[in-house]
Amino acid sequence: MELKEVIGRRRTIRFFIPFREVEREKIQKMLEAARRSSCAGNVMNVRAIVIWRDQASDELIKAITPPIGYQQMQTAPCFLLWYNEPGVYEGARWIESVLGLADVRRIGTNVEATKAEINERLRPGFMAAGAAMGLAPFAYMDVGQAIAQATLVAYDEGLGSCLMSGPAIERAAKLLDLPESAVPVCLQAVGYPAESWEAGGQTPKPPFEEMFFEMKYGQPFEGDEAVVEELSDSRMIQEPAPLPWREEELIYLARALDLEDRILSD
Ligand SMILES: Cc1cc2nc3c(=O)[nH]c(=O)nc-3n(C[C@H](O)[C@H](O)[C@H](O)COP(=O)(O)O)c2cc1C
Repeated sequence: MELKEVIGRRRTIRFFIPFREVEREKIQKMLEAARRSSCAGNVMNVRAIVIWRDQASDELIKAITPPIGYQQMQTAPCFLLWYNEPGVYEGARWIESVLGLADVRRIGTNVEATKAEINERLRPGFMAAGAAMGLAPFAYMDVGQAIAQATLVAYDEGLGSCLMSGPAIERAAKLLDLPESAVPVCLQAVGYPAESWEAGGQTPKPPFEEMFFEMKYGQPFEGDEAVVEELSDSRMIQEPAPLPWREEELIYLARALDLEDRILSD
């Protein structure tokens, strides 16, 4: 699938085929996509633990279950617990990572001059900020970018997913032996959709002009209809939810998967 279509097809899936295992290779591909994401200074603070439902204790599943997670937690065969590892920003590790970019010729034009500039001008500030940077908004953005890339690969591989958050995630830290420094960010249910891939249509978003501005706040970035048409042709923009048959699909899904009529977990 072309990238734009993958972006267009991605929508949260909450009903999975419970008996269809996700191939290990597909999860590996998701993780490789996460590993290739952009990240401040290339420190790569994103981490994930793969949890296979059939190998997990009831206690663990209960601990990772978020409040709004009934359907996906009942049906998904695999979960990824994504967390932030701020420890990678400790001491000189951040600066070493940036220096490493000069070594592999990804930053600057002259290795020695670039390293000297980093050491003289950036090192003091980086060292002073230290581990706190691992908890700064951009560190979480980096985790989010990695998750987004993994998610797109999942859809490209025919899988669906539901990202979830919630205080319950932190209770799982002990059971998973997470290091003290780890900050759980979200839980991602992954599996083959039991829903049609349309899942009732593309999730509607706020108007474009309400979200994006040009030159200053309040001055909308005016979209061009021709671009909207082009993106519709390339399937990035798709039919918005709800499709006419969604109601029947939901009734069918609930019956087929023997689910109660609720979204909240126990
Ligand atoms: C960080 C995060 C947390 C979320 N938490 C939940 C959740 O706890 N339960 C749930 O059903 N959906 C959850 N979602 C899914 C959102 O509701 C969904 O992404 C949003 O409605 C937009 O729909 P879309 O993903 O189809 O574009 C979460 C999504 C994100 C990114």
